[in-house]
Amino acid sequence: MITVRANPLRDPRDRRLPRIAGPCVLVIFGVTGDLSTKKLMPAVYDLANRGLLPAGFALVGFARRDWARQDFAKVVHDAVKEHARTPFREEVWRQLSEGIRFVPGEIGNDEAFSNLVETIADLDEARGTGGNHAFYLSIPPGLFPTAVDQLRAQGLAEQQPGQWSRVVIEKPFGHNLESARELNRIVSGVFPASSVFRIDHYLGKETVQNIMALRFANQLFEPVWNNNYVDHIQITMAEDIGIGGRAGYFDAIGIARDVVQNHLLQLLALTAMEEPNSFEAGQLRVEKQKVLAAARPPTQLDLYTARGQYAGGWAGGERVKGYLEEDRIPPDSRTETYAAIRIDIENRRWAGVPFYLRTGKRLARRVTEIALGFKRAPHLPFSKTDTEKLGDNAIVLRIQPDEGVTLRFGAKVPGTQMEIREVNMDFAYGGSFTESSPEAYERLILDVLLGDPPLFPQHEEVELSWEILDPILDYWASLPEQPEPYEPGSWGPEGADIMLARNGFSWRRP
Ligand code: BG6
Repeated sequence: MITVRANPLRDPRDRRLPRIAGPCVLVIFGVTGDLSTKKLMPAVYDLANRGLLPAGFALVGFARRDWARQDFAKVVHDAVKEHARTPFREEVWRQLSEGIRFVPGEIGNDEAFSNLVETIADLDEARGTGGNHAFYLSIPPGLFPTAVDQLRAQGLAEQQPGQWSRVVIEKPFGHNLESARELNRIVSGVFPASSVFRIDHYLGKETVQNIMALRFANQLFEPVWNNNYVDHIQITMAEDIGIGGRAGYFDAIGIARDVVQNHLLQLLALTAMEEPNSFEAGQLRVEKQKVLAAARPPTQLDLYTARGQYAGGWAGGERVKGYLEEDRIPPDSRTETYAAIRIDIENRRWAGVPFYLRTGKRLARRVTEIALGFKRAPHLPFSKTDTEKLGDNAIVLRIQPDEGVTLRFGAKVPGTQMEIREVNMDFAYGGSFTESSPEAYERLILDVLLGDPPLFPQHEEVELSWEILDPILDYWASLPEQPEPYEPGSWGPEGADIMLARNGFSWRRP
């Protein structure tokens, strides 16, 4: 039954109204990095432009550059002009830029942190930022412990009554289970769990949140969302780009740590979890943790995992370097740029339904999707030739770039004959809604400033994800051979096709 409330505006759970952050300072460490330039600074501007930041807001950049405040303001300005989602408006920029400051220095340098303390104190005074501070660590993971320790030593992690101090950590959260635990030990020794915001930007994507809307706001899908009807699930995150300028970061970790441990396993959790009692952070996390705890890496790692490395060649009409020829990549690197993994979920809903996860750089196109493949109808009252062109029914959640949902089923080809062919029924975000989707980082930064935790994985989820991935990574590390090369612009190495063929499936070519 639907309860109609007299005044929905009074309901604290009413999330339809835009929520505006309270006064605060956002400090970004590593402000010269790619993430900051392309995503964080533009997202801050977009939030300001949408009226979601308060007048008492300030942005502090911290990096190893000999910049004055104006230099940094120019950097933010250029990043915003180039990458912001919403149009540039002079008056918004003027107001935002008044609260911009820069602190030069190294993470390990005490003096730089003393300057940061002073800068923040000035801002609290001059801009009325209320003593509320968020520290965004957009820095190499190896520097997290030092940064957190500096924040502790300078008293920046302390929270006075009525004020808050939060730390934001970008993935990868650790390098394996052990290091993730160690990192957590360090962070939780300084910040209480409710002040730690781990960013997995996939959770900020509209279409990722729509997985929950689709599953739990409708009656249509949930009855078939189980092993009675689904025979396998494919989760794909394909990119057509190579590693770009991120050689140092990427070669040290590989694609499984880069995106499977976080984005893909989060997509799996949202697809497979039970319905939470509510969307309150605790409830949601419990369900995600339960399903991740039931997810198993393959016991036959040689048969049900595949890894690859892109070779040089032609892709999208241009000649591209192979991974081993990229700048700053050792010519004998064994780092994988493609990974495919079978995961089984040992619970009543999913027993017997393999989940296949795959991701890769330099693949045929950029696409992220979750495809549920259905079992054949138990009986087809047609002749075999009638249904020759009928594939399996499917529900495809198109996460990006062409956001929406596709249902695939069989329909009769017009004419006097009985011939059944598969057709698609599409919902496209662009066709149904006039609003354009906010960038994931807009939503996540706003949630940090609001202190709203549902979209941030907790440490338990991080640990469970490493428990799934660690045996696979150890197995790959033990192999003497290089990852299998694959053509740029292809759908990955042959080994991944063989892996699926073992179970009688083939990968989708979205
Ligand atoms: C990041 C990874 O988390 O996600 C990158 O570190 C990857 O390697 C990126 O390119 C993809 O994000 P999106 O939002 O473009 O799918």
